[in-house]
Amino acid sequence: MSIKKIMVTGGAGLIGLEVCHQLAEQGHKVHMFDLGEQISRIKHLTKGNIKLFYGSILDTTSLRTAMAKCDVVIHLAALLGVRRSEKERLHCIEININGTKNVLDCAVQQRIKKIIFASSSEVYGEPIENPITEQSITQGKTVYAVTKLAGEELCKAYAQIYPINYTILRYFNCYGPYQVAQFVITKFIHNVMCGKPPIIYGTGRQIRSYTYVSDIAKATIMTTFNDKSNSEIINIGSGDRPISLNDLAHMVIKIGDKNGVLSPEYCRDFNGSDRNEGREIFERFCIATKAKSLLGWKANVPLEEGIKKVFESGIIFDRWENLYDEGP
Ligand SMILES: NC(=O)c1ccc[n+]([C@@H]2O[C@H](COP(=O)([O-])OP(=O)(O)OC[C@H]3O[C@@H](n4cnc5c(N)ncnc54)[C@H](O)[C@@H]3O)[C@@H](O)[C@H]2O)c1
Repeated sequence: MSIKKIMVTGGAGLIGLEVCHQLAEQGHKVHMFDLGEQISRIKHLTKGNIKLFYGSILDTTSLRTAMAKCDVVIHLAALLGVRRSEKERLHCIEININGTKNVLDCAVQQRIKKIIFASSSEVYGEPIENPITEQSITQGKTVYAVTKLAGEELCKAYAQIYPINYTILRYFNCYGPYQVAQFVITKFIHNVMCGKPPIIYGTGRQIRSYTYVSDIAKATIMTTFNDKSNSEIINIGSGDRPISLNDLAHMVIKIGDKNGVLSPEYCRDFNGSDRNEGREIFERFCIATKAKSLLGWKANVPLEEGIKKVFESGIIFDRWENLYDEGP
């Protein structure tokens, strides 16, 4: 399939910005589509052949304009964050389900050849066993997970009746510069950057794996140009390095606490966490065997190195911080 122009919805977000930059570096023409306020925030960081389109995925006119003459859509725009999506359930459903339907409708009208849909490890909920494979059952615990599953099903349904290909990527805990300080790894780094201790909710024995944003973007781009990925669901995560929150907090302190005075603080309740206790996931990681065999992708950035890169960038957004002040 020949691909000349690629549209990225949510292109000004953590993953989107990196995807746009990598595509532009490889010489592709990129249409970055995102909310005006978000593009304004990162506009000064954009480089290369990236055309900016301001709009919402709830507005089909601006979607169609941005998609014109594109061959592929990488659909990353979403409302995310477990706490945030629980707090704004209807908004989450509106953006993640209706928004995805709009993206698909416009893609069909604009004769887009392929859509890459950003799904999430959240769809697996608390898995029965780890590591997770694409065959593991989906049993999401959150509204966000349900909206991601709905998005996946919409992609499959459209591909049955229209000439459009799709690939579903289930990302596992991405981190990097420009991430909002809502997700655990970024919150730890943000605190240490500000000379405060990382706060652990619960025992700290919760196990996860984290994937650096450049690796996630690379997988997304490899999928874009690989026809073998059509109609597939692929887990994207660096499952070979699962780590407990306790060890993660110590790693972040070791890297970022220049004065060597910080140690993690424990909080018995989950009030300030992104999840309440009922929605906490205690162990979840995958082995990206399918990504390796189908795309030739494997995560390359070790966790320590990725954390160092975030510290070096000195940039973390705090646009959702106010949610924490409001309690559960
Ligand atoms: N970051 C992770 O760990 C992770 C894990 C699994 C899945 N994902 C998925 O990957 C995608 C990208 O996530 P991210 O980490 O870059 O998040 P992000 O919040 O940094 O980026 C999402 C982008 O979507 C944009 N957006 C939100 N509503 C919009 C709307 N109505 N119209 C247009 N744009 C809108 C936001 O402005 C933002 O720039 C999302 O679909 C997310 O659900 C992320």
